[in-house]
Amino acid sequence: MGLSNKIKWGIIGCGNIANKFCLDLALVEDAVITAVASRSFEKAQNFAKVHNAKKAYGSYKELFLDKDVDIVYIATPHVSHEELSINAMKDGKHVLCEKPLALNAKETNAIIESSKRSKRFFMEALWSRFNPSIVAIKKSIDNGEIGQIKYINAEFSFKSDKPIDSRVLNLDLGGGAILDIGIYPAFLAYLILGVPKNILAKSIFHKISKCDIQTSMIFNYDQAQAILYSGFTSNSVNTVRISGTEGQIIIPNSWHAAQEYAVIKNNEEVIFKLPTMGIGFSYEIEECHKCIRANKIESDLWSHKNSLDLISILDTVRDKVGLVYPQEKRT
Ligand SMILES: NC(=O)c1ccc[n+]([C@@H]2O[C@H](COP(=O)([O-])OP(=O)(O)OC[C@H]3O[C@@H](n4cnc5c(N)ncnc54)[C@H](OP(=O)(O)O)[C@@H]3O)[C@@H](O)[C@H]2O)c1
Repeated sequence: MGLSNKIKWGIIGCGNIANKFCLDLALVEDAVITAVASRSFEKAQNFAKVHNAKKAYGSYKELFLDKDVDIVYIATPHVSHEELSINAMKDGKHVLCEKPLALNAKETNAIIESSKRSKRFFMEALWSRFNPSIVAIKKSIDNGEIGQIKYINAEFSFKSDKPIDSRVLNLDLGGGAILDIGIYPAFLAYLILGVPKNILAKSIFHKISKCDIQTSMIFNYDQAQAILYSGFTSNSVNTVRISGTEGQIIIPNSWHAAQEYAVIKNNEEVIFKLPTMGIGFSYEIEECHKCIRANKIESDLWSHKNSLDLISILDTVRDKVGLVYPQEKRT
């Protein structure tokens, strides 16, 4: 792959998020969708047609073996992320894998090891980290613009009408609010305050599927607290409030894909408008390109350690609420 060439993407799992991701991939000048793969060849062919991909495969393995593909985007259920990421890297591909990177820290460690061993770039697709508003907010907080952070309130909640066997509710597929959407408020608290000293958490569980459908979390730090919520049972405002000794930052709905934010200081509110290109996936895509072209195996902005810290935090949350996945019971 010469530096002047386009980076060739392969997409695996032709579902909901892969479709949205590919719409944004088309906006990135030096990216091309070379191949797509599904468990069904017909589905892959249809997806390839929609997104102008040259090749379609009826198995993920065929795409891993395609010499034309530089980087694989993994958009399958969480439970498959570890195996597919490792297999893709073994076959020489760089990988961008959807969040959560894996079910738990143990699986995440195995992926990171594989990236180091194969010297392939690997990143969790924690796209909010690269959102222009979140990047600007992180910088402004690190520069002390609202003083010392004392309190964060963040939520991600919507009323889901997904059936019981859907990915989000099916325990066998890693279902539940914590891993699907609770990861976002946990990410924000981690980005700003780091790994909490201790964590309190409570869940309400689905009566039949037994996955968590509402989870409240308190992250406790030496000098700060974060109150976080994720749920599938009701719509909410999905905003973020960050409160510091010298001011506040407010991110309006939907904060994880922010288009703007407000800084309130001395009773004055200033709004910073930073609309995203497309839905907002292009920024993580550009980060992958930058790292691959620089021969790096991880991003500085969302590193392997960042992913490991975040999933370890979620492991603790699950431990507190008593949510164990069937795969974990078997090991
Ligand atoms: N970044 C974001 O904003 C965002 C948003 C939503 C989801 N996600 C993440 O992306 C991943 C996929 O979510 P999604 O909402 O796109 O799910 P989805 O619509 O159900 O699509 C997942 C795809 O994975 C493939 N797959 C492989 N094994 C499967 C299995 N045993 N059961 C069902 N599907 C299987 C299927 O593709 P084929 O049939 O083509 O093989 C399916 O279409 C999840 O890890 C989720 O956390 C991220």
